[in-house]
Amino acid sequence: MSDGKATVTKDGIRIYQEADFAGMHAAGKVAAQILDDIAPHVFPGQTTGQIDKLITEMVEASGSTSATIGYKGYHHASCISVNHVVCHGIPGDKVLKNGDILNIDVTVIVDGWFGDTSRMYVAGSLSRKAERLIQVTHDSLMKGIEAARPGNTFGDIGHAIQSYVEKNRMSVVRDFCGHGLGLVFHAPPNVLHYGRPGTGSTLEEGMFFTIEPMVNLGRPETKVLADDWTAVTRDKSLSAQFEHSIGITADGCDIFTLSPSGRFHPTYG
Ligand code: MF3
Ligand code: CO
Ligand code: CO
Repeated sequence: MSDGKATVTKDGIRIYQEADFAGMHAAGKVAAQILDDIAPHVFPGQTTGQIDKLITEMVEASGSTSATIGYKGYHHASCISVNHVVCHGIPGDKVLKNGDILNIDVTVIVDGWFGDTSRMYVAGSLSRKAERLIQVTHDSLMKGIEAARPGNTFGDIGHAIQSYVEKNRMSVVRDFCGHGLGLVFHAPPNVLHYGRPGTGSTLEEGMFFTIEPMVNLGRPETKVLADDWTAVTRDKSLSAQFEHSIGITADGCDIFTLSPSGRFHPTYG
């Protein structure tokens, strides 16, 4: 990595070098491993604060650094967003009950590189409607990733996600987006999860960013609670999210945050 003379596009998007992919793979793997390892600790009766405490310990044990502790006044190693919480749920005394669905979002720093990923979990048994929401959200992320290749645009990614979600009669949240990352947590561009084909910046080899669609069973509108973090659906409908950190390669993309045990999707066993 050569931080001094970094290449940046006219839209302010940094172009990383081939050697930088290894740093992102290492960081992404640590974050993804933590999401694998936390799965057995999600069950009815558990609190979100206890889950976050375990994640804090896992971050320490991995030798990495939490990117979220101390970030803009945030104090936790994870965001845990239960049921109608869209994102940025603050871990605490909330006790999980049977059938609750939750997103756990972890970002770590390894040798300066940021690995940012989130997945859905269920406490106890999954209802049919929650299962469908989770499936569609997961698959919408993968549709976005399929569109992530040189020559395509960010609008192509957003369109792939939005059209898939709306075909399934669910809605895409507009108020939060993915982001560039790499040697920083949040960098240009804003990666919208909706859009029109051919619009936005063109994807180039060496761009690193997240795709992290939030999908609601009801309407897309959100509001942020008085704690200034917790975002919820305005209509109280159920919401789900999955997030990968990726890097554009010569002919497609690398996913930095693949599950080491292949358990990214909660119903895969
Ligand atoms: N990991 C989140 C993202 O996907 C950001 C969390 S910031 C925090 O961008 F401060 F809320 F943790
Ligand atoms: Co992110
Ligand atoms: Co995240």
